[in-house]
Amino acid sequence: MLITNIGELVTNAPLEAVSVASPGPFAALADAAIVLDGGLVAWTGPAAQAPAADEAVDAGGRAVLPGFVDSHAHLVFAGERGAEFAARMAGLPYEAGGIRSTVAATRRASDEALRANLARLAAELLAQGTTTFECKSGYGLTVPDETRSVALAAEVTPEVTYLGAHVVPPEFDGDVAGYVELVCGDMLAACAPLAKWIDVFCERGAFGADEARAVLLAGEAAGLEPRIHANQLGPGPGVQVAVEAAAASADHCTFLSDADVDALASSGGTVATLLPGVEFSTRSPYPDARRLLSAGVTVAIATDCNPGSCYTSSMALCVALAVREMRMTTAEAVWAATAGGAHALRRSDVGHLGTGARADVIMLDAPSHAYLAYRPGVPLIAGVWRSGERIV
Ligand code: NIG
Ligand code: FE
Repeated sequence: MLITNIGELVTNAPLEAVSVASPGPFAALADAAIVLDGGLVAWTGPAAQAPAADEAVDAGGRAVLPGFVDSHAHLVFAGERGAEFAARMAGLPYEAGGIRSTVAATRRASDEALRANLARLAAELLAQGTTTFECKSGYGLTVPDETRSVALAAEVTPEVTYLGAHVVPPEFDGDVAGYVELVCGDMLAACAPLAKWIDVFCERGAFGADEARAVLLAGEAAGLEPRIHANQLGPGPGVQVAVEAAAASADHCTFLSDADVDALASSGGTVATLLPGVEFSTRSPYPDARRLLSAGVTVAIATDCNPGSCYTSSMALCVALAVREMRMTTAEAVWAATAGGAHALRRSDVGHLGTGARADVIMLDAPSHAYLAYRPGVPLIAGVWRSGERIV
């Protein structure tokens, strides 16, 4: 299958290693074509040199990019928190405690209701060009509720994260140690076979450094790879814990010290995943992306789609926020939303359109990637192919 007459083909540099210290160059070709074969990228190059194919799509000068890779989302939940958002916009602060109201609704929900909500959100992501996404548990917080959360997540993505350590549930009030023991014990044993990642919300109001270390170590012993929610609501130890644990990613990174930035820069593989939709939806200061990029840190952008701190599934919005509010260039932001996300998930097969990559491709109703930020809020996704199959 050939897509030709592409105005701008964004390929990103091939990801030779899954953990590089800094982003590769942003490679884009004008007047280009791409050939998809057997679910993989078979060829990219100038349209004039394109090989013959069984089927051809004329892009009409539009831009073609790798599908977005959303490396941070909480999609298994019930209920909604629109009133909490409205109260926040009227002046109340965001607090970790809001998670508990979603936990209560999720525990009450049937499997079918959770599955239907998850399917709706997964379809939303795909329709907006996200061809790979991560999905966390973390709104169950009992052994059966976390187990069904990871099982449901595994129905829609291989990038499943066990987040039993999202917040301490009410029945463990005053007994954080007891809850951490459960998270690292029976709950982990039940969830690990269905998950790839272990995550912990290391924050005031959630879990401290020692607890976070214990959770990540227990997860690794059970075969899971670490990632972490770090430095979202204030300065704290999360990033240092991430780097010590050689986590794939430290997510949020809103409040960083110089030592945190240095630690990420010399980590040799811990990505800083920025979630600007959260700052937008909680009216918080944005993370300093330029400081991270100048230091040589690999930066990813993800949505953090969840019912509390950020209820968007739109990677395009997050790219626009990254450009406008965090001063990333349009190329840096698109790289971070594709290749950056792939690094954060330790995936070399997605996030770029090098030969042999998975044929996850999006076509914009626009001549260049810059329009994602230049035309904020406009639905620009004119085509989506996942593993070579046209979805949109
Ligand atoms: O990434 N920080 C922790 N978890 C989510 C928020 C979840 C919620 O508010 O329900 C986040 O922002
Ligand atoms: Fe999150």
